[in-house]
Amino acid sequence: MAERPYVIDEMISAKAIAARIEELCHDIRQEFASTDKLVVVGLLRGSFVFIADLVRELDVAVEVDFLEASSYGDTMESSREVRILKDLRGAIEGRDVLVVEDIVDTGFTLSHVIKLLNSRKPERLKTIALLDKPSRREVPVKADWIGFEIPDEFVVGYGIDFAQRNRNLPFIGKVRFTD
Ligand code: PRP
Repeated sequence: MAERPYVIDEMISAKAIAARIEELCHDIRQEFASTDKLVVVGLLRGSFVFIADLVRELDVAVEVDFLEASSYGDTMESSREVRILKDLRGAIEGRDVLVVEDIVDTGFTLSHVIKLLNSRKPERLKTIALLDKPSRREVPVKADWIGFEIPDEFVVGYGIDFAQRNRNLPFIGKVRFTD
């Protein structure tokens, strides 16, 4: 199928994202102030930009690990099936864990990952999502920290793709088809 033509309209600027991350890190630092065993877990691939900015702004001793869970493939529709494509490198039993997600849509991915990681008995498990689309929710799950609540728009950038493109945009944009 030929690619549909589209343009990207800026929705959340790089500056607004950076300011929000600063605010979020203020809270997160307080939550984890008493621990030296924090593991920040990024959900690949979408969270790679967010986690990089988050851990640098957080500026505390952390370990970083990644988990790849996929529910979408290269289409816009959720398959409702969450597959673990890459597991964590390290054990999280007894550790404080912060799961970093780029976007919570239907909620299948985050709820599956929370169940999976809780079964490994961390001391504490918290979650953060840069974007939340509550109107799309099919599984009742909410991240402990949310960057921005957004309407049901097709967004890209800052780690989020459309058919694997546009992850490297420094801002969050809205896809607008022009055909
Ligand atoms: C996207 C996104 C979230 C998930 C959210 O991942 O990064 O992880 O979907 O959707 P949900 O709430 O409906 O489960 P995707 O599977 O597209 O993989 P990617 O992160 O590699 O782009």
